[in-house]
Amino acid sequence: MEVSKIDGIIRQYGARESAILAILQDIQAEEKYLPREALEHLGETLHIPINKIYRIATFYRAFSLTPRGRHEIHVCVGTACHVRGAQRVVDQLSTELGVRPEETTSDRNFSLGTVNCLGVCASGPVVAIDGEYFGKMSPVKIEGTLKKFRSDKKEELNGKN
Ligand code: FES
Repeated sequence: MEVSKIDGIIRQYGARESAILAILQDIQAEEKYLPREALEHLGETLHIPINKIYRIATFYRAFSLTPRGRHEIHVCVGTACHVRGAQRVVDQLSTELGVRPEETTSDRNFSLGTVNCLGVCASGPVVAIDGEYFGKMSPVKIEGTLKKFRSDKKEELNGKN
């Protein structure tokens, strides 16, 4: 992440230590993770010890210290979804993407994760991709569901050529 970008985010919040959470959220949103260089620059600029920044970054689940994918997949493994076969959905996604839960694909297109409830238990098993819910999921529906997000990537790549 470019230093000028980090400085721009810091300036938005008046370079205040009290804004550290908001600044980290913006960096996370921009980069899909918190790069080490960005945290070091933040510490130097705001005069916050780096270990304090790491403590905050590792405390909140919303932050990641490793690169995340463009698309965030969350499979609900709460009780209602579990009894309807959520684990089979997780296994199929792992096979399709070649990653385990909490990992990101090597092309950084997808991150796979699990959650304990998405609040729509009657529709289980539920998968959320970038906040969009897909209910009554089964292993056979995975490929079709991922297709939309895979073609997003192709369109983006074609747009760059
Ligand atoms: S347990 Fe899966 S949505 Fe509630």
